[in-house]
Amino acid sequence: MDDNEYTYVKRKVNELLCIDLDNYKERQMRRRINSFLDRANADDVGSYFNSMEKDQKMIQDLKDFLTINVSEFFRDDRQFEKLESVIMPELLRDRVCLKLWSAGCSIGAEPYTMAIILEELSPGTNHKIIATDLDETILKQARAGGPYMEQDVRNVRPQRLAKYFRKEGDKYWVVDSIRNRVHFKQHNLLGDPYEDNCDLILCRNVVIYFTDNAKSKINRGFHASLREGGVLFIGGSEIIFDSSKIGLCVIIPSFYRKLPAGTNVKSGSIRTDI
Ligand SMILES: C[S@@+](CC[C@H](N)C(=O)[O-])C[C@H]1O[C@@H](n2cnc3c(N)ncnc32)[C@H](O)[C@@H]1O
Repeated sequence: MDDNEYTYVKRKVNELLCIDLDNYKERQMRRRINSFLDRANADDVGSYFNSMEKDQKMIQDLKDFLTINVSEFFRDDRQFEKLESVIMPELLRDRVCLKLWSAGCSIGAEPYTMAIILEELSPGTNHKIIATDLDETILKQARAGGPYMEQDVRNVRPQRLAKYFRKEGDKYWVVDSIRNRVHFKQHNLLGDPYEDNCDLILCRNVVIYFTDNAKSKINRGFHASLREGGVLFIGGSEIIFDSSKIGLCVIIPSFYRKLPAGTNVKSGSIRTDI
């Protein structure tokens, strides 16, 4: 795809899918779009997008392809162990009812993981768990609480699997008491207004596809969404290079705390005992 074609594709994707590809890493995105068009046997990009204008299914197919939905329960389980043993007890010491936001929640495995953890750490408490994603198709599965494959639940301990899941054939569904704890909604991190007063935001394996500029904008948005002392939990392979500029202090790798305004971020409370 030459530069003119890519400029045309970006315009059409913005018009039809409301996704601004300028916020995504260009080389990676060009590769993905090329492979999508190859698979669709679209020799002429212009006429392919013209047909798409009249076909909602074609629009949805492209959206599904561009939003990478890979996820699983307790993804990177060692990170979740740290969350359970260090971060959550600290947050629960400050407040009885927490507000959590799982941004880019995909199939719902991440917010349901949080519902399970909270059910065990503070049984019966009415925490608010909001889960958002750009992709309405994936949110349908998330809202339904399944079906999940063996692979999706491979990190769930057997006692938890027995207690919080129902098995039908070879598929798993979360039980209603967990499902009802999560509120799902469609949300674009690159344009829609953000939640406020959050105790914990999880945004893991989402911004890896974005440009540094877009990442920084999103992290600033998360900073504004957190209450003072609130925590941002990111993916295991991610790092926020401009965290101190934004006002976030790393507690342990993958966990960043919003410090009170005016605090010297560099001398913030980094945990070295974990
Ligand atoms: C790889 S999944 C990560 C799921 C989960 N957070 C995890 O780590 O297992 C990335 C998700 O980000 C969503 N996403 C991509 N761009 C987005 C945007 N601009 N706004 C909100 N969600 C977005 C995709 O639809 C996809 O479901």
